[in-house]
Amino acid sequence: IFVLMPSPFTHLLLNWNQNENHRPMPWKGEKDPYKIWLSEIILQQTRVEQGWAYYEKFLKNFPTIFQLAAAKDEKVFKLWEGLGYYNRCKNLLFTARHIVKEFKGKFPNSYEGLLLLKGVGPYTASAIASFAYNLPHAVVDGNVFRVFSRFYGIATPIDTKEGIEIFNKIAFENLSTTQAGIYNQALMDFGATICKPMAAQCPSCIMQKKCKAFTQNQVNLLPVKLKSIQKKNRFFDFFIFKYEDQFLIQKRGDGDIWSNLFQFYLIENERVAAIDKKYIQKFILEPLAIATKNIISLLPSAVYKQTLTHQQIKARFIIIQLDKKPALFAKALWVKKEGFKKYPFPKIVNDFLKMALAKGKSGFSL
Ligand code: ADE
Repeated sequence: IFVLMPSPFTHLLLNWNQNENHRPMPWKGEKDPYKIWLSEIILQQTRVEQGWAYYEKFLKNFPTIFQLAAAKDEKVFKLWEGLGYYNRCKNLLFTARHIVKEFKGKFPNSYEGLLLLKGVGPYTASAIASFAYNLPHAVVDGNVFRVFSRFYGIATPIDTKEGIEIFNKIAFENLSTTQAGIYNQALMDFGATICKPMAAQCPSCIMQKKCKAFTQNQVNLLPVKLKSIQKKNRFFDFFIFKYEDQFLIQKRGDGDIWSNLFQFYLIENERVAAIDKKYIQKFILEPLAIATKNIISLLPSAVYKQTLTHQQIKARFIIIQLDKKPALFAKALWVKKEGFKKYPFPKIVNDFLKMALAKGKSGFSL
């Protein structure tokens, strides 16, 4: 029988995996496509250390796809809270319901079938196909590009058409077609624990002698990237309208960050504006038909920051205590602070609430 030998890289990787890779993770070795899919969707969004708790929380609440599909949207969003990028959560729910409704709860068992699922791209489809069914599909992402760029000493930028083609080809050439699942997980673990972006662990790496970047002293120069992402700055002022012990909250729409999450009344500006009489007049009193005499107190917070992939958010929170509800918001959603935990908020809002609800500590209290 003709047996295809693994490449030197693959040989070393599988050896490393067997002898040195001690990275416990709850989804490792998992064969249930539902659990694999869930872990991969969570890991699209966050690092393993943080994703771990979300994975266990989701499985505890929804042990099978049937429970997830039957869950209320709000409950799933609430469990997702803190992970950000809520479109992923929307897709998660959509796909769970789709699989239950169309496939009686059974996941597709081919790469092509998996790729048709909403929220599942080539990486996730390869991960599920190889972990659950040992199908020969290689995971390819920035981490994989980094490992190959270093091992083979290739300086072609990884964010160009040419680079993507080269590294994809290498990824497929190195795939162990008989142990695709083990190979893919090992490659992920190797990139995360040894061939790390900043602090590569070369002294203890078994690839050292064969690694071009190491032998040519180029580890920190590879991989090459053409452009780094320019982040857009956005300035948010959240106005927290308070009437007696109730607060006005609103649900965000679609088409921007944080779709369908909740927030306080939001004014967005091009730059940091002084919160003075003129500003309050222009953005609050006039447009919302609130009279100055109805304002009991007004208290702005410090600036809070949140960094997203393409945006840098700076937000302030201004508590405005009123002696009556503004007519415009008479029918809006007013909740007591004990009720906040029922609604999913963006991380930056939760950061503020955590501070403001920790009574007394800051002198800033809701
Ligand atoms: N990132 C994406 N998928 C992963 C996995 N299965 N293990 C570790 N990190 C990952």
